[in-house]
Amino acid sequence: MLYGEKRDKALLRLAARGAGEVLDLETIMPYSPARLVLQRKDLTTEAVFAWAHSAEYAALHQTRRRILHPHELARYDAFTAPRRKSSFLLGRYVAKQALAVLLREPQYANIEIASGVFTQPIVKFPTAEPVEVSITHAGELACALAFPQMHPMATDAERLDTDNLEAMKSQILPGELDPQRLPLLSESVRCTIIWTAKEALSKVLKCGMMCPFSILETIELRQEGPCYVGYFRNFGQFKFHAWVVKDHVIAIVLPKWTTMMFDVAPR
Ligand SMILES: CC(C)(COP(=O)(O)OP(=O)(O)OC[C@H]1O[C@@H](n2cnc3c(N)ncnc32)[C@H](O)[C@@H]1OP(=O)(O)O)[C@@H](O)C(=O)NCCC(=O)NCCS
Repeated sequence: MLYGEKRDKALLRLAARGAGEVLDLETIMPYSPARLVLQRKDLTTEAVFAWAHSAEYAALHQTRRRILHPHELARYDAFTAPRRKSSFLLGRYVAKQALAVLLREPQYANIEIASGVFTQPIVKFPTAEPVEVSITHAGELACALAFPQMHPMATDAERLDTDNLEAMKSQILPGELDPQRLPLLSESVRCTIIWTAKEALSKVLKCGMMCPFSILETIELRQEGPCYVGYFRNFGQFKFHAWVVKDHVIAIVLPKWTTMMFDVAPR
């Protein structure tokens, strides 16, 4: 973990970025996995974020036995659709990257990620402090966030795709798209940020998209450096942070009163 001047300078460089500027994921999170310091009044803990590009799939397939737990390997072998095979392996790979750091377990195959009755990921690994993981795959990107169970969080990523704009808009309340909020952002980017935040909240709640989307209504959207921050009308205990990275939006939902800092400085 980096403290002091080096980290402050890196954060200041990021904070100086202008509204609407599109950054590379590598600029915001140069390393995967990246530690996230979570600071509350009475608690300091950490989560770990990891990401990978789909171009890595072929190489990961070669080493799948070192990545997947035997139960996961059986599931992977049973998938017939190439797209599902790829999303499953990429998702498990980034999840293991993040969990390996949080659990201090370098052997990925020793960690099992099963699926619960709502298809939510369940971490199976003996540990005194229970942990959870949140997984997302979108376009060419797979991301995962590992965090202590006592501090609920989730992540979601979406590809910036104008073809989906109308479908997304149909699930977003007019007030959420108020152009007064960050007028420099295009409607497509604003929609994708809001959609991604809602989907991440639905993962925290474990209901996924099986609830009316209006329940997940967002309020406020403001920029803090390279990050967009907002809240939820019906879930006041949570907030979201979102980043626009080239062709994708990535969101993390976390408890409202937690300060989250990426370890962004070079190692
Ligand atoms: C959660 C959900 C919104 C994710 O949407 P998606 O388009 O698949 O998008 P993402 O790629 O971002 O996320 C996929 C990951 O979300 C996680 N996930 C799935 N369901 C989840 C849930 N209920 N809660 C939290 N996370 C969930 C999984 O880890 C999944 O990856 P995996 O299948 O490789 O393990 C969507 O799958 C959903 O609505 N699920 C609800 C399913 C449900 O309630 N089923 C009940 C049985 S009918």
